Amino acid sequence: MSKLIIEGGQTLIGEVTSSGAKNAALPILAATVLLEGESELRNVPKLMDIVTMVRMLNALGVRTEFGPNNTVRIWNNKKIRHIAPYELVTAMRASFFVAGPLLAKTGLAKVPLPGGCAIGSRPIDLHLKGFKALGAEVFVEHGFVELKAKRLVGTHIYLDFPSVGATENIMMAACLAEGTTVIENAALEPEITDLGHFLIKAGAKIEGLDTPNITIHGVEKLHGIQYDVIPDRVEIGTLMIAGAITGGDVTVHNVVIPHLEPLIRKLKECGADIVCERNLIQVKGNKDLIAVDIETQPFPGFPTDMQAQMMSLLCVVKGNSKVKETIFENRFMHAHELMRMGANIKLDKNYAFISGVETLSGAEVRITDLRAGAALVLAGLAAEGETIVYGLKHLKRGYENMPEKIRALGGRIVE
Ligand code: EPZ
Repeated sequence: MSKLIIEGGQTLIGEVTSSGAKNAALPILAATVLLEGESELRNVPKLMDIVTMVRMLNALGVRTEFGPNNTVRIWNNKKIRHIAPYELVTAMRASFFVAGPLLAKTGLAKVPLPGGCAIGSRPIDLHLKGFKALGAEVFVEHGFVELKAKRLVGTHIYLDFPSVGATENIMMAACLAEGTTVIENAALEPEITDLGHFLIKAGAKIEGLDTPNITIHGVEKLHGIQYDVIPDRVEIGTLMIAGAITGGDVTVHNVVIPHLEPLIRKLKECGADIVCERNLIQVKGNKDLIAVDIETQPFPGFPTDMQAQMMSLLCVVKGNSKVKETIFENRFMHAHELMRMGANIKLDKNYAFISGVETLSGAEVRITDLRAGAALVLAGLAAEGETIVYGLKHLKRGYENMPEKIRALGGRIVE
């Protein structure tokens, strides 16, 4: 069984370089269904989820291959199949991002319902609301979503919640619609802006990126391009917390500081020293970090994808913290494993009340979901003794070479 063995107590010191953003690369890869011709993506992280999306594109008839140095090459010049394979959508929810592009490009899409996952039920009602508003017929039966539309027609769509995936799926579909679409209450995550920049470079007409109102003027077609994916703010945040939780001094290269603002503010509140330069960030921890309260919110609020990692830090700072998870209904599973390492956490609905302890003790723990895995690695680095982390497949979905990066910083971690 794949596992990590971590010897705690090492202070992490040194410099690492970030990988590309998983949650930008996934919708961008899906968006290549819309393009005609050849494209090349750069700074694409080599992750299980990316492999799944590449398999999805090939299954749809979009020839896609990994190239050297974190590149992916795509040739979209054949007739596209509009049915997404069940085993790929259930392997990774983000495969549902192909629904909007398939509908816009072929007028048809048959995609399995993505289903829930460990952290929540993950409905897609807002995605379907957008497709219906654009004029598609939507059928949900036998575990599949079937979408049909001769031509999508631009319209005004209000998102009841600023859903990242719904904003992305609707924005992609609207690129080839007739007329103008406005998405109101759109999500503001940096990965959406990166997808928008990719689409604009391919010939789409999009205004209002980085605002809650995105306007898309439909065009006839989009063409292949070269594009660099943004750095992964969640991986970078995880490495920043690794520096803070071990009382170390960690510098991460290839970062976009505005993407990290919510975490920077909270780590400074804890008492960490942070130096930001043009595209690097340095985090120095110390033994006197103090408790802070966290409430996850859509960007630019504190990201839910950093909640688990921050909880590990709050377990070993001085004082009492309160963590409120407002995005997903079941995203505290890491808390139970942290308690097995000696953390003092009380859970009450979507609140976690944490009292900092002197130190955690190494234990055998199991990863339940991707970001929980990062949290347990961080806890193991700070704990006394040895921690064995089982369930590596979750970690490999979202972190490229994490053990290698931690070893480069002086951490003792082996697979
Ligand atoms: C994206 O998921 C990310 N995944 C998630 O990262 C991230 O946690 C999430 O955005 C929030 O930032 C990718 O980008 C591949 P949402 P997504 O739609 O698009 C509800 C990770 O660890 N909702 O913004 O699925 C939903 O149930 C992953 O990398 C509806 O009710 O997130 C949830 O409570 C985990 N109806 C909330 O909105 C819908 O139609 C946020 O979901 C869609 C969503």
